[in-house]
Amino acid sequence: MSIDYQFDVLIIGSGAAGLMSAIQLSDNLSIAVIAKDKILEGSSYYAQGGISAVLDPDDNFESHITDTINTGFNLGNEASIRFMVEQAPQAIHDLEKTGVKFSNIDNKYDLTTEGGHSSNRVAHVADKTGQSIQVNLLAQAKKHKNIKLFEEYVAVDLVVKENKSYGAYVLDKNSKEVLTFSSKKTILATGGASKSYLYTSNPDTSTGDGIAMAYRAGCKITNMEFTQFHPTCLFHPHAKSFLISETLRGEGAKLLLPDGQEFMHKYDDRLELAPRDIVARAIDNEMKVHGFDCVYLDFSFKEAKWIKSRFPTITKRCSELGIDISKEALPVVPAAHYTCGGVDTNIDARSNIDNLYAVGEVAHTGVHGANRMASNSLLECIVFAKSCAQDINEATLDKIPHAIPKWDDSRVAPSREKVVIAHLWHEIRLIMWNFVGIVRSNNRLKSAYQKIKQINKEVDEYYQVYTVTEDLIELRNLAQTSKIIVESALSRKESRGLHFNQDYPNQLKETGNTVITKS
Ligand code: FAD
Ligand code: SIN
Repeated sequence: MSIDYQFDVLIIGSGAAGLMSAIQLSDNLSIAVIAKDKILEGSSYYAQGGISAVLDPDDNFESHITDTINTGFNLGNEASIRFMVEQAPQAIHDLEKTGVKFSNIDNKYDLTTEGGHSSNRVAHVADKTGQSIQVNLLAQAKKHKNIKLFEEYVAVDLVVKENKSYGAYVLDKNSKEVLTFSSKKTILATGGASKSYLYTSNPDTSTGDGIAMAYRAGCKITNMEFTQFHPTCLFHPHAKSFLISETLRGEGAKLLLPDGQEFMHKYDDRLELAPRDIVARAIDNEMKVHGFDCVYLDFSFKEAKWIKSRFPTITKRCSELGIDISKEALPVVPAAHYTCGGVDTNIDARSNIDNLYAVGEVAHTGVHGANRMASNSLLECIVFAKSCAQDINEATLDKIPHAIPKWDDSRVAPSREKVVIAHLWHEIRLIMWNFVGIVRSNNRLKSAYQKIKQINKEVDEYYQVYTVTEDLIELRNLAQTSKIIVESALSRKESRGLHFNQDYPNQLKETGNTVITKS
């Protein structure tokens, strides 16, 4: 029996959800924040477009709520959406208190728009909103003596006994030891699972670890069929995962075929500002019908100086790759971007396991329904991190049992070859991209299910005999999360939002959430 570290609260993940939770928790609590990579690495840091909130006197909560429900194809939970939307202006002020300076014109927020929003309500810091949020949240976290940050520590599994959570087993990447972090409350803030797809806008951290750990521990995992594909990632051999923000379209950028023709009028009256599922499917269709490798996004009609100050990150990255965004159209393709489903939680971020919470992209709070509206994700992170922290601050904390078993590695040995892990990892991502992508069919989903099930079997066998490494932990999680995505997709007998199945092209009148639990 052993406990290596003991904290009141263990937060797994240091994105916007994890860091915001940490700084909102009471100073009387001892808190550990662990990150499997560098502390700032994660989707939050790369967020470009912004964060949505009703900040314009001509806008109103009802309109933000209606837009969110409509974009989510009526599958969202209205109470959670209302809660998030009503807390949004305060979330902006909370971020400002940490030091975030939103772009403004004449002392008014420079609010922009994106697909699905009927008003300008996206506050941003040029095109580096996530970077500004993360740098400021981290600076605040470092000021709190009760918060200890652990960089390059990978959570392997949660410690759960009789439906109560007591912390996690964590791999220290440097010492290669698996340690026991015991805690009275545990917050999963591990981000999404977009790395299950071959092409993604996400950094390498998005391997669905929190979702898979929660599933193994007995949590309800909801609506995982709804993977959001962002319509415009840069198509370039050296531009791994580089996003071209939807806010370019918010500022008027046009989608073009290689011969310069516009095409969005064929798909939706809202043209380039239709919700993401529609724009991504339109691009996918044009590429498939004509055999194009990509389509183009044209912004060259805007003034070069303005583009550079409004979109400095995108201008710089494109310029490094030899593309002058003020003179030529950008080659773009859709890529997996956001996991709408996740660990089922209530408004206080509680999961169905006692003392276990989930916040941010790992969670399913019900606010996104069948399709997330742009810039509602950072908002969800900030709002629910605060309600989670408040719930913990007001709670009476349980005692940690003395008898947490030590990590048992007596029956495993180090593997001498990496090729099996690399191969299976690539195979999963290829299967998910080709069989469980933007447009699905029963045959492709069934085939994917058989293949992913077999890969899970192989990974389990491998896991039983070899010592855990970060790659093995991520492969196991990616395989399990992908299986949950396919199972969820197979069980939805309709097309709705991000889930489009050619064999069930219509929306059902009566529908509900897809819930998967470990049998
Ligand atoms: P992340 O920021 O992804 O952080 C996850 C954390 O968990 C990391 O610290 C990681 O190291 C850690 N972690 C994961 N697994 C483990 C493990 N096993 N052990 C230990 N640590 C672990 N949304 C918007 O609202 N507006 C935008 O403008 C916007 N732009 C985006 C642009 C890009 C390029 C991307 C990829 C996403 C964008 N999104 C945007 C979505 C949004 O950024 C994310 O949904 C949100 O930041 C997720 O935050 P998070 O804290 O839940 O997870
Ligand atoms: C973007 O800037 O296009 C991303 C916005 C989001 O994912 O909400």
